[in-house]
Amino acid sequence: DIPSLKDVYADDFLLGTAFSPNDRFSEKGKLIAKHFNSLTPGNTMKWDATEPQEGQFNFADADIVVATAEANGATVRGHTLIWHQQTPAWVFERPDGTPLTDSAEDKALLLSRIDSHIRAVAGRYTGKISAWDVANEVIDEGQADGLRRSRWFEIAGLDYLRTAFRVAREVAPDAKLYINDYNTEYPRKRVALFNVVKQLRAEGVPIDGVGHQLHMNIERQRIAEIEKTFQQFATLGVEQQVTELDISIYTNFVESYTSVSEETLALQGLRYRDLFDLFRRYRGTLNSVTIWGTSDDGTWLDTFPFPRNDWPLAFDDDLQAKPAYWGMVDPS
Ligand code: XIL
Repeated sequence: DIPSLKDVYADDFLLGTAFSPNDRFSEKGKLIAKHFNSLTPGNTMKWDATEPQEGQFNFADADIVVATAEANGATVRGHTLIWHQQTPAWVFERPDGTPLTDSAEDKALLLSRIDSHIRAVAGRYTGKISAWDVANEVIDEGQADGLRRSRWFEIAGLDYLRTAFRVAREVAPDAKLYINDYNTEYPRKRVALFNVVKQLRAEGVPIDGVGHQLHMNIERQRIAEIEKTFQQFATLGVEQQVTELDISIYTNFVESYTSVSEETLALQGLRYRDLFDLFRRYRGTLNSVTIWGTSDDGTWLDTFPFPRNDWPLAFDDDLQAKPAYWGMVDPS
């Protein structure tokens, strides 16, 4: 019987996985219960899932994630309240279907929709969700000010973030409120995110934590750069979590294989080992590490950035432990 990942890291941080309601009563569900003490809904708490039409909420799938976590004795990371993807078109339209602009009236409508949405979604799970990704992927380091030109930003400037965090704090006062992003180990992204978090916190916007997605590949290792990122955000006094770790076997957006070699899987194991070695050294800084899925059959990388097979996770399609798993268990 192989060691439980959550037990291996019991003194270090929570060990999480992305969870789908389909996993609930399956063999995978048992594996998840054994290894993970934190669940993040992969899709079911996103805006398109919870409020597909204005004011019409659907919590059936989100409730399953929360119920499963309760049954497993696990915590839940809420993901995500505000994102530029998986948000229905109506959010950015006037009642007559024309696009919202940055006029005062349109901006007020958008902010009121954010308010109602967060009140309903985060408010429903008060006391059941320990951390919320209030905002996801708001940085674009290609912009001089570092801010992504999403519809949120075009219509409301930074007020969409101010409103989102303040309402989330009001309705979910016991949840830690996170801003979450990818590529935070790259210097320009790191600095841009740092500046926004610093500015908003100085204004009193309740941002408690910074989430690092860490979608990696077997070539991109960047241990030293990830370490710099942890150190830099620690100076702000925020919490930090690794929120969506996976290690693709691909090093480009072109290749596509139908099978994976033992050597590649062994290399991936070394990558996981080195990352978990780093995480363990930063256990006072990180309080949670989530892997973006459990077994390779369920990875989002089978569809992103285009359809191809990938093998990024700890367990294979038959739910057997891969070298990746052993890299996590034996970090040094
Ligand atoms: C992904 C899900 O895993 C997929 O099922 C879905 O089709 C697209 O979104 N960054 C995030 C996550 O913050 O929400 C994304 O999840 C992966 C990238």
